[in-house]
Amino acid sequence: MHVLVVGGAGYIGSVVAAHLLNAGHTVTVYDNLSRGHRAAIPSQACFVKGDIGDRAALDVLFQSFQFDAVVHLAAFIEAGESMQLPGKYFQNNVVNSHVLLDAMHQHGVKSLVFSSTAAVYASKNAPLQEDDPLGPSNVYGETKLMIEQMIRWYHDRCGLKYAILRYFNACGAMLEGGVSQNAVRGEAHQPETHLIPLTLQVPLGQRERILMFGDDYPTPDGTCVRDYVHIEDLAAAHILALEALDEHSTMTYNLGNGRGYSVQEVVNVARMVTGHPIPADVVARRPGDAPILVASSERVNDELGWQPKFPALEDIIASAWAWHQSHPNGYEDMT
Ligand SMILES: NC(=O)c1ccc[n+]([C@@H]2O[C@H](COP(=O)([O-])OP(=O)(O)OC[C@H]3O[C@@H](n4cnc5c(N)ncnc54)[C@H](O)[C@@H]3O)[C@@H](O)[C@H]2O)c1
Repeated sequence: MHVLVVGGAGYIGSVVAAHLLNAGHTVTVYDNLSRGHRAAIPSQACFVKGDIGDRAALDVLFQSFQFDAVVHLAAFIEAGESMQLPGKYFQNNVVNSHVLLDAMHQHGVKSLVFSSTAAVYASKNAPLQEDDPLGPSNVYGETKLMIEQMIRWYHDRCGLKYAILRYFNACGAMLEGGVSQNAVRGEAHQPETHLIPLTLQVPLGQRERILMFGDDYPTPDGTCVRDYVHIEDLAAAHILALEALDEHSTMTYNLGNGRGYSVQEVVNVARMVTGHPIPADVVARRPGDAPILVASSERVNDELGWQPKFPALEDIIASAWAWHQSHPNGYEDMT
């Protein structure tokens, strides 16, 4: 298959592109590099720099290549910022995604894998299933839900086949090189807002302490609980979904480990993995943080046989630690 990976210079997209290439597919990455990194794109992929909101550029792209499918990961992803700047998120995530969907339709590309999120759900004190009530607690989650709804209408009206993948907390780094196991792709968001890389900035000497936003949530230790899923497991699910699109034309799957870890537990495991005391302060809650988001991934397991290969938080954080130690400035050292 020739797959267009939109947002393929980003954290997850670059790993998806690498896995697609490893599985024998042809890959073109389309990314405006607003958040991504040129050096993250696998060298065997073709790269076209551009914006999904630029319809003329998309027309040229779709006229230049015959894509069998699109994997759409391009978005702004910071839940906190989306509560401060909602318009920025509605514009880039919703409006620009519609430009992409319409261009796909006009150019006859009928298969889509879309990166959605746990943030579409209302918080629940048990593993979330795909049919559980939706109820984003932040604008970012709302934008993803709106895109999901557009995709369903494009299926209904225009025959688009889709796999909506609701990732829980993506984390860890991509390791390559057999026994030596070098971390070749990892988290390098600018700005970084995710717990594991922020926590690891303390032992790296880039931050004095980690802040924990609220310890009065209705959870066992009072800090928020999330489901952490390794990016290589996420990438593997994209390959399975793409290959299943002919058989199942409307898929919606959670991708998580089914086990929640609190913020406090993540910091504790990071202390163990790095051997650093990692000082932590509890500060006020942030608007838009749901107390608990944990996935049930039974559906994708039953239908596609997907199972995480790296479910242990120690292994996830160890891979992230290997990446941050070897790339303390992210991709900057590689450009
Ligand atoms: N990181 C997570 O934990 C997580 C969890 C759930 C869902 N997701 C979703 O997964 C996707 C990828 O997340 P990520 O962590 O890799 O983010 P990222 O910021 O690293 O990657 C997003 C990529 O999209 C590109 N992009 C953004 N707007 C664009 C536009 N208008 N045109 C072209 N390119 C554009 C950026 O340059 C970047 O390379 C996002 O859609 C996000 O909502 C991520």
